[in-house]
Amino acid sequence: MNIAVLCSGNGTNLQAIINSIKRGYIKKTRIALVISDNPNAYALKRAHRAGIKTLVFLPKDFKTRLDYDKAIIKILRQLNVELIVLAGFMRVLTAFFVKSFKYGILNIHPALLPAFPGTDGIGDTLRYGAKVGGVTVHFVDEGVDTGPIIVQKALDIKDNDSKDNLASRIHKIEHKIYPLAIKLFVENRLKIVGRKVKILKT
Ligand code: GRF
Repeated sequence: MNIAVLCSGNGTNLQAIINSIKRGYIKKTRIALVISDNPNAYALKRAHRAGIKTLVFLPKDFKTRLDYDKAIIKILRQLNVELIVLAGFMRVLTAFFVKSFKYGILNIHPALLPAFPGTDGIGDTLRYGAKVGGVTVHFVDEGVDTGPIIVQKALDIKDNDSKDNLASRIHKIEHKIYPLAIKLFVENRLKIVGRKVKILKT
């Protein structure tokens, strides 16, 4: 299966996915393309190092968000991409994009959805004083962080947790459960029933 990973930043999740494919945890899968909206994203370096094709789509080169998304969709179709993985991509996809790849787009969010959606899930969890935080991998629908949940993992928040400290514990979880969710998708083991995602046994 050809997959594409969309990133804006560091790309540690991209790296975890690259490693999981390399060591055979995710089978029969190839990252056909890494796309970024940020030319300085370290994720691009990680992709180059792994010999993966990269493309940068600068928002300023497009008149509308729809034009931007259509340009991405075009290249994804050309490369026969069947799964799109959002890994720290800091743009909300248009409804057109989401409909074009219905249930073919995954996102990872650093909080236990539906709590603390949006751009600062970790900061929001801490500021709220929640005692438990976590990570959610979900299908992307037309809302922000609202799609059917595939995998979730919780962690306890300590009294003295700083944002950095919590972020690093959250990332460790992310690097396990994102590859897991992708593996389940590729193995065709995710069955969507309404809002619920059933995980089928092998
Ligand atoms: C992760 O925390 C993810 O949950 C969020 O963006 C961050 C991306 O980190 N959506 P990285 O670029 O993969 O290191």
